[in-house]
Amino acid sequence: MEFKRNILITGGAGFIGSHVVRLFATKYPDYRIVNLDKLTYAGNLANLKDIEGKTNYTFVKADICDFDKMMALMSQYRIDGIIHLAAESHVDRSIKDPFTFARTNVMGTLSLLQAAKLYWESLPEKYDGKRFYHISTDEVYGALELTAPEGVESPFTTKASSLEHHQAYGREFFTETTKYDPHSPYSASKASSDHFVRAFHDTYGMPTIVTNCSNNYGPYQFPEKLIPLFINNIRHRKPLPVYGKGENVRDWLYVEDHARAIDTIFHNGKTADTYNIGGFNEWKNIDLIKVIIKTVDRMLGNPEGYSLGLITYVTDRQGHDLRYAIDSRKIQRELGWEPSLQFEEGIEKTVRWYLDNQEWLDLVTSGEYQTYYDKMYGNR
Ligand code: NAD
Ligand code: TYD
Repeated sequence: MEFKRNILITGGAGFIGSHVVRLFATKYPDYRIVNLDKLTYAGNLANLKDIEGKTNYTFVKADICDFDKMMALMSQYRIDGIIHLAAESHVDRSIKDPFTFARTNVMGTLSLLQAAKLYWESLPEKYDGKRFYHISTDEVYGALELTAPEGVESPFTTKASSLEHHQAYGREFFTETTKYDPHSPYSASKASSDHFVRAFHDTYGMPTIVTNCSNNYGPYQFPEKLIPLFINNIRHRKPLPVYGKGENVRDWLYVEDHARAIDTIFHNGKTADTYNIGGFNEWKNIDLIKVIIKTVDRMLGNPEGYSLGLITYVTDRQGHDLRYAIDSRKIQRELGWEPSLQFEEGIEKTVRWYLDNQEWLDLVTSGEYQTYYDKMYGNR
């Protein structure tokens, strides 16, 4: 079958990638979607069970650092668009093992860029109709101050009023022109990969695009990240490890809204440009944790406040960035994208999903899914 487009999505078995693969494979039946993933501890094909039988969907188990394999795949599937999400993504792991982050996030991205370059430059039309879209994080910008006066509540408000709320207190946001200032090995590796992507545009004319997004939450997130970890721990009556005083602030975006933004940018974003994606939805960790506790307790039929005693303050993360906050007005203004969900709705959906999908949680926390998929796709 001749497809209108042949799109390679890397990291499609991970959290955000699986939502992007699902969106593209269902919304665009005339596109071939090739999901390339190494299936590390974070990659799980159970995330895509509902679409694995689609005729426009193909899974390939491969490491983006394997340059020869990337070259072979580019021509085998005549790839004309790449959405690159494959990465090591957890800050705490990067603090313990920075080498793996440099390998995948920097060298892996470079290997993919070089394969795309050599393949596309070998074609008569060269870069015409091609796109290399790199998914990155707001963490490359470093950390912002938290200048709220004492006693100011987290803005559990609408996305529009949230920006005004913060500006009223003189707080700053990351914009597309904020200088890169990464602090963790994770963000340093992502910053480096962003620079390589832009260098391939500036040097070779590759049609690249980069977006930097805030913290995502929603179904299929590996339960090492704050929200699924805490939901799972409450369920099992385990301690909830709050780093430091729980004062750090993150800007949370529902993962399906990120996937929609990726769709919009892949199709309509300006080549060589950058867009920030965020929810205008900032939460102090401790306030967010209390919302999670309240929601889980209510859904499990526990009395209000039942699980508050699980909160356990632990040693702070090394180099813990104080605050991330994205100004996403550019993508709203230029491409008409904005978050569709209020945080109240998003967190309800998310908690409900993890409570209804205990089997998925048990599978990934026990590591059993890896043995299962190793049998299908060979050992790592
Ligand atoms: P994830 O850890 O859930 O998934 C990463 C996926 O990449 C996994 O399926 C893994 O198997 C795969 N992978 C890892 N190394 C690979 C390699 N060498 N070759 C091929 N595949 C490999 O991550 P996520 O949270 O879904 O993040 C996806 C992307 O979005 C990352 O690039 C991340 O930096 C970026 N991002 C994430 C967030 C967030 O809040 N999670 C926010 C902004 C940007
Ligand atoms: P995380 O989900 O790891 O995302 P990131 O570090 O990329 O922002 O963490 C979100 C916030 O929650 C961050 O400020 C660290 C904090 N945190 C805890 O307090 N305890 C935990 O067990 C985890 C995993 C995170």
